[in-house]
Amino acid sequence: MSTPTPSPTADLLARDARHASGLWAPDVAFVRGEGAWLWDADGKRYLDAMAGIAVASVGHANERLVEALAAQARRLIVCPQNLANDVRTEFVEALFAHLPAPLERVFLTNSGAEANEAALKWAFAATARRRVVAAKRGFAGRTLGALAMTWEAKYRKPFEPLAVPVDFVRFDDAAELEAAVGDETAMIWLEPVQGEGGVHPASATYLRRARELADAHGALLGFDEIQCGVGRTGRFLASEHAGVVPDLLVLAKGLAGGVPIGALVMTEAVARAMPAGGHGTTFGGNPLAAAAGLAVLQELDERGLIAHAAAMGARFKAGIEALGSDRVREVRGLGLMLGVELKEKAAPVIAALREAGLLTINAGATVVRFVPPLVITPEQVEEAVAIFGRVLRA
Ligand SMILES: Cc1ncc(COP(=O)(O)O)c(C=O)c1O
Repeated sequence: MSTPTPSPTADLLARDARHASGLWAPDVAFVRGEGAWLWDADGKRYLDAMAGIAVASVGHANERLVEALAAQARRLIVCPQNLANDVRTEFVEALFAHLPAPLERVFLTNSGAEANEAALKWAFAATARRRVVAAKRGFAGRTLGALAMTWEAKYRKPFEPLAVPVDFVRFDDAAELEAAVGDETAMIWLEPVQGEGGVHPASATYLRRARELADAHGALLGFDEIQCGVGRTGRFLASEHAGVVPDLLVLAKGLAGGVPIGALVMTEAVARAMPAGGHGTTFGGNPLAAAAGLAVLQELDERGLIAHAAAMGARFKAGIEALGSDRVREVRGLGLMLGVELKEKAAPVIAALREAGLLTINAGATVVRFVPPLVITPEQVEEAVAIFGRVLRA
């Protein structure tokens, strides 16, 4: 008897498991996407409310993004930041058209954590101080400096001692922040909407108080908008909802629609503090990533995707609330960054949603997170809500 041929998925998963790091054990393999749809290797279609964790901002296989990448690949791929480049300059100009003064300098990287590392170094250089005040439940990445600002002990503990001293305070608690910030504080580091920590938007008064405290103590204010920035919350920056401008701002994830990128944005004074040769990168700001970033910003502007994210987010949130499920404790979030806190573990619900054709991701143990592409249509939002309703009733 001949052995049965494995399905394309089974074949891919077995081959993947052979050489992958072992950090994960995938049980699905995606091979194609279009807008907010994804297809696995066996041809099953999924509605993508995960978007590579808030990355595929302009949707999968976005025509403008694909064309920009292909055209740039034919023209020039390599040009580091010590040499000027036409498309990088265009991208940076387009980026600053979306950013408030006095933010006017940028250092481009290849990832969020890498940009957060740069933020730490610039903050240390600009203040000649070393301590950081960051938030409990906060996530800043897994490289050693960023890891120090990441609260979850299971990420941090195996690698302690970490080189950056960080004081963690309760998120959205102005009194705790006030007690922690002092004349040794180099930087207050906050996500205006915490992502990995469970989708918690900060109040406007808290972010304003953070600005005041930083100023009062000669510290810098840094916002990690890696997940919540670039239109996701219905404004280009989540911090715009509070009208607070930081000294350092980090963007990544959705900024180039899935092409690796990070951006540390700074004031003139912060940028100037770095000694010559004090930082650098080989790939950061490469023309391919810049072309992708420019295409994303053009898509956001020309298709009105930021206002669309606000409208779709409101529809999504209202739809979930209207399900009236007694398994739901709270629906939180801003725009298309939504978290549904369950009264039970999220993992089995997320698995059932995937089985039903809706891809989501957890944010902590009990939160189902919805961070779909910003191009998600009203019909797709209705479908996602309907699937969620069916799974919650099952
Ligand atoms: C708020 C925040 N900061 C930093 C990071 C790290 O970014 P990266 O995975 O690109 O290093 C993430 C990633 O999830 C994030 O959500």
